[in-house]
Amino acid sequence: MSLPEKGRDIEELLAEISRLKQDDLPVRGGKVTAYVYDTGRPEVHEAAARAYFEMLEVNTLDPTAFPSVVEMERQVVGAVAELLGGGSGIFTSGGTESIMLAVKAARDARPVGGRPRMAVPVTAHPAFHKAAHYLGVAVDAVPVDPVTFRASVAAVEEAITEDTVLVVASAPSYPQGVVDPVAEIAEAASARGVLCHVDACVGGWLLPWLREAGARVPPFDLSVPGVTSLSCDLHKFGYSPKGASVVLFADPALRRKAYFASASWPGYTVINATVQSSKSAGPLGGAWATFQALGRDGYLELGRATLAAARRLREGIAGIPGLRVLGDPESALVAFGSDEVDVFVLSDEARKRGWFLQPQLSYAGIPANIHITVTGVTLRGVEAMLEVIAESAEAARERGPAALPEGLVDLVAGLDLDALDDAAFGELAAAVGVDLGGSGQPEMAVVNAVLDALPADRREAVLIRFLSVIYA
Ligand SMILES: Cc1ncc(COP(=O)(O)O)c(C=O)c1O
Repeated sequence: MSLPEKGRDIEELLAEISRLKQDDLPVRGGKVTAYVYDTGRPEVHEAAARAYFEMLEVNTLDPTAFPSVVEMERQVVGAVAELLGGGSGIFTSGGTESIMLAVKAARDARPVGGRPRMAVPVTAHPAFHKAAHYLGVAVDAVPVDPVTFRASVAAVEEAITEDTVLVVASAPSYPQGVVDPVAEIAEAASARGVLCHVDACVGGWLLPWLREAGARVPPFDLSVPGVTSLSCDLHKFGYSPKGASVVLFADPALRRKAYFASASWPGYTVINATVQSSKSAGPLGGAWATFQALGRDGYLELGRATLAAARRLREGIAGIPGLRVLGDPESALVAFGSDEVDVFVLSDEARKRGWFLQPQLSYAGIPANIHITVTGVTLRGVEAMLEVIAESAEAARERGPAALPEGLVDLVAGLDLDALDDAAFGELAAAVGVDLGGSGQPEMAVVNAVLDALPADRREAVLIRFLSVIYA
């Protein structure tokens, strides 16, 4: 785009946005089983959108200039603390930022002799690796049980060293939706004087409602002895617009370690609770309004529908020949794998039928699989979803595994990426049938199969190049 010479009319702009969005996956309706969270109640999303818009131009940079921000944040964070065992918190832009702040607080709370380290189960979200990377902390990977996919407590204990500043448990971990043994992990950490963060980005605003609706959910929040911080995303099962999460700290002194102030310049006073400095209060307004529009009853009702849908989905998938549900998730995330059909082809087949089912690559002994996030709206379409999964599995069986051009994996594995510019990488991808500049509904099975065959560090290098090419 070049900047237009003269300003354009709003109607024209909105028409253009609609055109730009025409190949996007739909954010409502439940056919996209990752990334988006739909209550199935348009009036709730409208309330959030209007409140977001109302707060859009308010800058949270200076709470003394905009006291509305302090009051709204107190209310939202207070509601989260009330549900999740207390503590003092910070409203952040998402799970990654909440985790980043928890890692920063842990790093700064107890200086260690060597490089600070954290013990992180292999199923924990990459936000911990990102935080580690940004904050100069080393990660010690903790294996999970190969059948339950829950972090091994014995392995956590083994991973703790004298430089460990943080131990992590997930409630639940995203890949299979299972809750780690939080109480045991927190106890092991506290016995060694180490802080323990529970990543409840997915489960914080879900598990309590599922529990109330009848699910068996083990204790996982700040009321568990030894848990010192917890992240809970509101833009997931809080159903708020994106940009909304809360990180809670058991101790206000630990929260202060997440803050940042700088007086090392001659400009305005800088005091930040989050990574972002200037930021819109829109997401805070959206989260506040979603809480108010749904209320306890609304969340409980959504929890009941979500639980019923997740149970039906697990049972239905188990009845489809060749498919099996991985683990026994307490949450509303369901992953299934197969020894008989290529799950990447299955995912492409579902996409042709109008459904997005998220593929997950194999890792740390866990096979490639398909991930479904069940939300409040899923129940209405769960039978249709099961039919599509069954049909797509059958089609994938007929098609057979993704056909990889001979030698492609070895070629990619051995590529000297530093010697290739983005254009050459794009041409190489096109030569093997992968159009990185294409739009619409891409066939991803080949790409996923290649990535799946590579070790993690090569996957990362290729993914970074992929991003660079699509934004070229
Ligand atoms: C368990 C868990 N933690 C953290 C995150 C990161 O959240 P965000 O994408 O909001 O940064 C996710 C995202 O899916 C998640 O599932």
